[in-house]
Amino acid sequence: MLRTRITKLFNIKYPIICGGMYWIGRAELIAAVANAGGLGFMAAATFDSLDDLRAEIRKARDMTDGPVGLNINLFPAIRPQPIEAWVEIACEEKIPVVETSGRSPEAIVEPLHAAGVKIMHKVPGVKYARTAERLGCDAVCVVGHECGGHPGMDEVSTLVMVPATVDAVGIPVVAAGGFADGRGLVAALALGAEAVLMGTRFMATQECRGHPAWKEWLVNASETDTAYVMKTIKNPSRVAKNAVAVKVLEMEAQGATLEELLPVIAGQGGAVFDDGELDSQLASAGQAMGLIHDVPTVKELIDRMVEEAARSRDRLNAAAAVA
Ligand SMILES: Cc1cc2nc3c(=O)[nH]c(=O)nc-3n(C[C@H](O)[C@H](O)[C@H](O)COP(=O)(O)O)c2cc1C
Repeated sequence: MLRTRITKLFNIKYPIICGGMYWIGRAELIAAVANAGGLGFMAAATFDSLDDLRAEIRKARDMTDGPVGLNINLFPAIRPQPIEAWVEIACEEKIPVVETSGRSPEAIVEPLHAAGVKIMHKVPGVKYARTAERLGCDAVCVVGHECGGHPGMDEVSTLVMVPATVDAVGIPVVAAGGFADGRGLVAALALGAEAVLMGTRFMATQECRGHPAWKEWLVNASETDTAYVMKTIKNPSRVAKNAVAVKVLEMEAQGATLEELLPVIAGQGGAVFDDGELDSQLASAGQAMGLIHDVPTVKELIDRMVEEAARSRDRLNAAAAVA
């Protein structure tokens, strides 16, 4: 039941993927996901230098025989290095799959494919999924409004976004936004997706970088503890609803400009994740927080999801038998 076009395409045991997570998705997490039968993406934008990025990829490789993926965020913000350099590293390091996001991957599809790198483009809407298919991407990941990170402008939930995307494209679709357990995995497969991708749930694992206070906050938070900020500057983000998020919402409601918001939104995540200073910066997190109740190892999380998926399937079969 858990074999799909995605498990075949990415050569993984389970259709469970860890999305790129700026700053915190380091070698330990990516390798742990691979060792547990999934696929994880390291975010290229995290690293101050190309040498640091290359070293982290190699570190992950030393920790697993499974796949080590790379996230290339094409959003035109201030980037530590040019995109071409990240593409070069992906090709030279023989990264099996690149997750692109933020903007159209048009310029990098050809060089990545020429080096045998597969491309999963992550999008916040059906029309962008169509573009990904037209450009020749091997798979598309669609995120719904629940997701941590960047949900897009249209505020369409995962429950609608996934089947609408499945209906619109022929390439395999990966579902993201709000997934945290095996019930969600079965639901995603039922909607026609061929894997789930998670960010928020993987943050609350032993191998993920992060201060214990931040992980504890994730465990104790509910599904209502996120904020959807920065839509007014056309860069919508779902973040933990801390003091900074509340301030940003207030400023946006009062019509603040990008220039006024910049000092408040700058430098996302580091102090929250690393130092546990929970009210110091914006920190990406999705509504799946409401489904997080512990901080397991990645293997415990993935094994549990697979077991839960089997139980959900049995429940569905039993319901069908009664009907
Ligand atoms: C802390 C954090 C950092 C993220 N950084 C990135 C990133 O650098 N690039 C990217 O494409 N997506 C990024 N994302 C989005 C995730 O890869 C993924 O799409 C999202 O978390 C899925 O929704 P979920 O949080 O409901 O599981 C980030 C998400 C979080 C929570």
